[in-house]
Amino acid sequence: MSRFLKAAFCLCLMLLSQPGFAETFPQIGRRATTAELAAWDIDVRPDFKGLPAGSGSVAQGQKLWESKCASCHGAFGESSEVFPLLVGGTTQADIERGRVAGLTATTETTKSTLMKLATASTLWDYIRRAMPFDAPKSLSVDEVYAATAYLLHLADIVPAGFTLTEQNIGQVQQRLPNRNGMTTAHGMNDVSGKPDVASVACMKDCAVNEKSLAVLPATINGRNGNLANQNRAYGSVRGIDTSRR
Ligand code: HEC
Repeated sequence: MSRFLKAAFCLCLMLLSQPGFAETFPQIGRRATTAELAAWDIDVRPDFKGLPAGSGSVAQGQKLWESKCASCHGAFGESSEVFPLLVGGTTQADIERGRVAGLTATTETTKSTLMKLATASTLWDYIRRAMPFDAPKSLSVDEVYAATAYLLHLADIVPAGFTLTEQNIGQVQQRLPNRNGMTTAHGMNDVSGKPDVASVACMKDCAVNEKSLAVLPATINGRNGNLANQNRAYGSVRGIDTSRR
């Protein structure tokens, strides 16, 4: 270990063993206040720990959706070409099984959010922290419930008259089309599990697998003109040839 690393290591240990960084170095920063911590501490876990009490109906969600979400995600969550597709591709059979058959189909290249979603908490949490894209964290707790309820209704997971609350979100979880789709039995979560990628370490003259070269699916070719020939306002962009069919 170099001298520098040793010194940095010792300094870290010193800081960590102090009763409090703010007390030790009063001139550097200050302790976060309880209110500041609370503003950041908003995660909702799969068992709904952290979920604030509240409620929102599908009808309220539809109103909110039309004013704050539809401009990007479309009236029914189908989204425009550029924004992620939220709803579609799930069936009643998927809801019963808890596993979306379309996820393994090779015919459809796009998989919607509700096809992949395994935990209702994630949808609620994501909308609360990140949406609307142009004004994140601007929704009230009840509005987040309403937007979530509307999306769930679009995917036929809850009926039109439904009001989502912290009390019944657990039952909704039991109807998520892909609730049984999550697995942690692989290398990303478990070091002794099967790795997510298989590759040979290589730094020189590496073999390139044909399959791994970027190729757009045929359905997308030409959709927005030929990217390879386009000039953008900020300079030319050499893109992939998308005129091929
Ligand atoms: C200005 C455009 C815009 C608006 C308005 C907007 N979104 Fe989004 N939304 C996006 C974009 C862009 C993403 C992808 C963000 C990313 O991946 O970083 C996204 C992602 C999402 C996702 C997650 C998709 C996924 O699978 O990861 C959800 C859910 C969502 N939006 C819900 C909403 C809701 C609910 C509203 C209204 C309250 C809303 N959005 C308003 C642009 C928008």
